[in-house]
Amino acid sequence: MPQPTKAQTAREKLILALDVPSMDEAIAIVKELKDEVGLFKIGLELYAHSGTRLFEAMRAEGVPFFFDCKFHDIPNTVARASQGLVGQGIAMFNVHATGGFEMMQATAKATHKAAREANVAAPKIISVTMLTSISDKEASEIGFGASVSQLVPQLALLTKKAGLDGVVASAQEVQAIRQACGPDFFIVTPGIRPAWSASDDQKRIVTPGQAIKDGADYLVVGRPITQASSRRDAARRVVEEMESIN
Ligand code: C5P
Repeated sequence: MPQPTKAQTAREKLILALDVPSMDEAIAIVKELKDEVGLFKIGLELYAHSGTRLFEAMRAEGVPFFFDCKFHDIPNTVARASQGLVGQGIAMFNVHATGGFEMMQATAKATHKAAREANVAAPKIISVTMLTSISDKEASEIGFGASVSQLVPQLALLTKKAGLDGVVASAQEVQAIRQACGPDFFIVTPGIRPAWSASDDQKRIVTPGQAIKDGADYLVVGRPITQASSRRDAARRVVEEMESIN
């Protein structure tokens, strides 16, 4: 399976989190920012409010998007659901690595097969290793016998072995994942805050420049752009900061 190519330009590396409760709001932001942003991220909130008609609207805007609804189920269910995402304009989607090797491998195989049959580009598939909201205490309560910092590179390597393209990870985890999984593996990093923006509820934040220096391939940014007085200026400033590191 050839490696999908990574984003090259700073703009392509910027993923905008569309964390709004309605399709109208999401599409207004897409129209405003489609020339500034590489990928738009649709999470659970927006998807629950808008459903798959949002995919149609995104296709009509001609923008690539990341379906961030983190599948976690038995291999057959996730693989078949993933096949349903092929051909809908989805550039990237994700699963929980704790769903296991077999689930991730079945998902990669089914997705790639469906894409070949439909003659469309396969979406990139990434995993969530451990949710960043899970502390060592919580990991132990669930029954994990290792710390989060041990589990993250272990699950990232399992993700790679299963044939997925990369992981979502906090900037603090990037180095360990890079070491475990090598240079071709995609690392998508949220928790980004430019020096000029508020940290909101994010606890462990890094600037766009620092995340690129640390080796992240894609940065997920939401409120610093969506809630700025000029969204376009905010997006451009983030891209400029990323470019200054390249
Ligand atoms: O507005 P903000 O930049 O904090 O948005 C970050 C986005 O990244 C949100 O959609 C959030 O759900 C997502 N995310 C995160 N931390 C993770 C995984 C995803 O902030 N560990």
